[in-house]
Amino acid sequence: MSEISDKKVFVTREHIITDAIAHLEQVLDVEVWKERSAPPREVMLQKARESDGMITEITDIVDKELLDQAPNLKVVANRAVGMDNIDIGEATKHGVLVSNTPGVLHESCADFTFGLMLSVARNITYGDRQIHAGEWKMFDQIPYLGTDVHGATLGIIGLGLIGTAVARRAGAFDMRVIYYSRTRKPEVEEQLGVEWRPDIDAVLRESDFVSLHVPLTAETERLIGARELELMQPHSFLINTTRGPTVDPAALYDAASKGKIAGAALDVTDPEPIPFDDPLLTLPNVVISPHISSASSSTIRKMGMLTAENVIGALSGGEMPSCVNPEAARES
Ligand code: NAP
Ligand code: GLV
Repeated sequence: MSEISDKKVFVTREHIITDAIAHLEQVLDVEVWKERSAPPREVMLQKARESDGMITEITDIVDKELLDQAPNLKVVANRAVGMDNIDIGEATKHGVLVSNTPGVLHESCADFTFGLMLSVARNITYGDRQIHAGEWKMFDQIPYLGTDVHGATLGIIGLGLIGTAVARRAGAFDMRVIYYSRTRKPEVEEQLGVEWRPDIDAVLRESDFVSLHVPLTAETERLIGARELELMQPHSFLINTTRGPTVDPAALYDAASKGKIAGAALDVTDPEPIPFDDPLLTLPNVVISPHISSASSSTIRKMGMLTAENVIGALSGGEMPSCVNPEAARES
């Protein structure tokens, strides 16, 4: 490992990874964006010009324009597992190593997915909204009759780390789990008893709950639109914790408001933040959280530390625990 105390690293947020920043500061020349909101684009471009490494959040765009201006940049470490904010192909061409944070957040995200499922199906959020609006006037359960999660069929689209952690929890709820993923997973089928379906349509038709766990890519953008929502059953729910653009929001509003599906629970929206006048916010059967599936204190800390280890590994010539484009090293 080489001496790296002169290497400059720009960190685009402070408050979420304080421990990781302290760790980085012991070995690197670290500059931290001190505001709570994201650095403006001009700042990102300026820092890219000056830095050897950057630690980014999912709202920080790393594209060709930025990479073209970054002669010394060796690593972009995204403090997230999703990397749709980074043009990985361009980064590789520019010899810039990119990392994400797999393996430390999937259990927290799977917990949260179940939280959303229970919340929308059993009217937990709806009941809470009614109480806060002063509408709990007598003992009357009828307006809050929900749908059981236990014993239902769960359809998982994208059986990666989070999807598999969701499938494991579903076992404790006596759920039948079916899935579609780009690659069939015989070992997960064997271990968890999940059933493969050859396409998304089959999953949509058969499921009581459909949960999305694919990354946002050119193939998965608007994966769920009007046609797909028509395939779902009127009593079924859509859960989205991946990225907002995987679902067409206008089609979702249409389906959830007209009873084509029973409801939806979303941790991600398109756009984010969702505007206060978005029609989805008017629906009692749609639950929305502000992109916080991974956000437990313990998991956020682990994500920060993993991000720091990736930067240190890349700049010192050591190991990067979760590099997604090791071939970039050969390009540089
Ligand atoms: P992962 O382990 O990479 O799993 C993603 C799975 O989706 C993989 O199994 C993958 O391929 C499959 N897949 C990819 N493209 C597909 C396609 N076109 N059709 C069907 N399946 C496809 O990632 P993860 O850790 O589970 O995370 C999944 C996503 O969740 C992330 O990319 C991120 O966008 C989102 N996320 C959101 C939050 C939040 O706070 N809301 C937190 C963490 C992650 P194979 O089938 O080939 O394996
Ligand atoms: C959060 O959205 C992540 O991708 O980790």
